[in-house]
Amino acid sequence: MKRRLPDLRELAPLLQFDLPRLDRVAARLESAADIWDLRRIAKRVTPTAPFDYVDGAALDERTLTKNREALGNVELRPRILHGVDAPDTSTTIAGARTRLPFGIAPTGYTRMMHSEGEAAGVRAAAKAGIPFSLSTMGTTSVEDVAQAAPDSTRWFQLYLWKDRQRSLDLIQRAAASGYETLLVTVDTPITGQRLRDHRNGLTIPPRLTLGTILDASYRPGWWFNFLTTEPPKYASLSNTSQSLAEMTKTMFDPTLDLDDLRWIREQWNGRLFVKGILTAEDARRAQSVGADGLVVSNHGGRQLDRAPDSLTSLAEVRAEVGPEMELIFDSGIMSGTDVVTALCAGADFVLIGRAYLYGLMAGGQRGVERAIELIEQEILTAMGLMGARSITDLGPELVRGLPQAPAADRELRTDAV
Ligand code: GLV
Repeated sequence: MKRRLPDLRELAPLLQFDLPRLDRVAARLESAADIWDLRRIAKRVTPTAPFDYVDGAALDERTLTKNREALGNVELRPRILHGVDAPDTSTTIAGARTRLPFGIAPTGYTRMMHSEGEAAGVRAAAKAGIPFSLSTMGTTSVEDVAQAAPDSTRWFQLYLWKDRQRSLDLIQRAAASGYETLLVTVDTPITGQRLRDHRNGLTIPPRLTLGTILDASYRPGWWFNFLTTEPPKYASLSNTSQSLAEMTKTMFDPTLDLDDLRWIREQWNGRLFVKGILTAEDARRAQSVGADGLVVSNHGGRQLDRAPDSLTSLAEVRAEVGPEMELIFDSGIMSGTDVVTALCAGADFVLIGRAYLYGLMAGGQRGVERAIELIEQEILTAMGLMGARSITDLGPELVRGLPQAPAADRELRTDAV
């Protein structure tokens, strides 16, 4: 091998050092290559109790794990030489055009994860041209969220209260503030047992115990934000000093039945999706009272542990309702590849919950923007490699190993509406 002295002029283009970034949040968000990286950052900068509230699920967290495994086990089929330049990721859901086939799921206590809370979420969603859903358990009011991003597409998620008048007041306020679609969550007559929250002694707002103070000492940014902004409170509830378990007891109604859903259907003139459907028979029941669409969801594995994984439920529900009814899918989505998988499996649209909250915890609004951007990039890559020009190209023929709808169970089927 013939050697020579290095020629610095040739090396110069290879030696490009970036100046250290002064904006540390921007630098750490940029360093995240996927949602799992945002999760790692979130864990580092957020106190344990709020982080675990997001990250955890019910009991052994089996359903959460199964959700992810089911998505990951599906094979995407590459298609070569399809001449796709820039895939079109836009679609229509609940009567609205959206630039990307996913939106932000309703999440509770959001300002506890990061003080920018729901305002960060709705602004990032509006910038990305996707819908934002506000939770009944949200920490920013219906009106303030609307004001934070007046041009956003806004959906409102309702937990039916024992007190119907309060439910009615809330949805009337939502309608008056331009929320177009109502997601009625039906999988929470009681809350699932979230063991991490129990072990962490999670209260809303967080209590200052010796443990939280020690935890605070190496998460100063979160505590600084927390202590120098309005304390998080439920924007739709009056009493804020209850523990999570006490709270949910007054909030949720274990006696809810189909008549309550029928009643809410009569009160709401806009589109109504029933959220938390996992089985064919429940899909039928929701359809029978006039739902416009369904959200196939096991609440991110946070309710009934060992409930079916969300993708298997999607197969069952799609087989039951046929091709026309709009189905939104959530539970387990951590990447754009997951989004593409769910769309191929029969979903019309997808919601991201944890994936957005990891971004929020990692860097407020900019973190949510980064989460959306990462998922968008992954969707574009998957579509490009699968030869898909548009969302309508994504169908079951582009995947292998989808869970099958279970054979109809006669007994359940006779258990009519
Ligand atoms: C509320 O909906 C939760 O899952 O904690």
